[in-house]
Amino acid sequence: MQTFRTIKALTQCLKGYRTAGLRVGFVPTMGFLHAGHRALIAESVARCDITVVSIFVNPTQFGPNEDLDRYPRALEADHDLCRTAGVNLIFVPDASEIYPPGFQTYVEPGPVAEPLCGAVRPGHFRGVATVVSKLFAIVQPEVAFFGQKDFQQCAVIRQLVRDLNLNVEIVTVPTVREADGLALSSRNSYLSAADRARARCLSRGLFAAHAAFQAGERDSQRLVDLARAAMTEVNRLQYLELRNAETLEAIPELVERPAVLCVAAYVGTTRLIDNVLLTPPPTALSDHELELVSRAIGRQATVAAEGPQAL
Ligand code: PAF
Repeated sequence: MQTFRTIKALTQCLKGYRTAGLRVGFVPTMGFLHAGHRALIAESVARCDITVVSIFVNPTQFGPNEDLDRYPRALEADHDLCRTAGVNLIFVPDASEIYPPGFQTYVEPGPVAEPLCGAVRPGHFRGVATVVSKLFAIVQPEVAFFGQKDFQQCAVIRQLVRDLNLNVEIVTVPTVREADGLALSSRNSYLSAADRARARCLSRGLFAAHAAFQAGERDSQRLVDLARAAMTEVNRLQYLELRNAETLEAIPELVERPAVLCVAAYVGTTRLIDNVLLTPPPTALSDHELELVSRAIGRQATVAAEGPQAL
């Protein structure tokens, strides 16, 4: 495993891999790595020849009163996790490497960045979109991996890739949870033992709504109310909203398309986010449709056994 601090050294090394025809996977992070990041890395290692991890606490995605200065850092432990997880290259730039003096161009995402975290963290997704665009330009990966916990971030990045015709496949990896359901996050390290216990109520609420949805509940207000009823232990519920899973537009009354229930809440002084996907099960087939399917399968089997002349 090699570690790079400059864009020049990293890109020179990557050029060699690209010339050799190797497929590059990329996991952008802000460090303080945990099992959620390990799942992203594992996905990259499984799908790609070379895995690059960036560790950069990006100042432009933090608001003036947010936790940039106290964001947890543990570079040595991050190196150990990367080494054991099969990472090939780590990129750990200084802020001045990414934002040199005179830097002035930002990427401004559209409506997908407006609700939810976009509404309560002005400028956050502009910072994310800018740094991710720059990291994509530097690493030029074939595939990049992001966690579902940051659902809106994934939606913003997918839109960014479409809108700017970036040649990178975006893979969203399911949220990794503690045994009691709490979504893994670097910010969980801020929680006191008592707050850690109370933080469980977020996933409990999301899963209550998910269970009701699976049982046939489609009324969006009732689903949100059900989740809220379990989230009484938080200090402040910043938002709890049901949104279209692709566009993040609000859902009127009934959930008829894949939806996502998103929450942001303060537990003690720690802000946590989480979400759950509500995807309708495939429509049941009628007896007639089932008969047509089994006939088609039988016909395919005949063609496979006897060759196309059986048609
Ligand atoms: O999800 C994160 O850790 C950050 O937002 C990212 C994608 C590394 C950009 O700074």
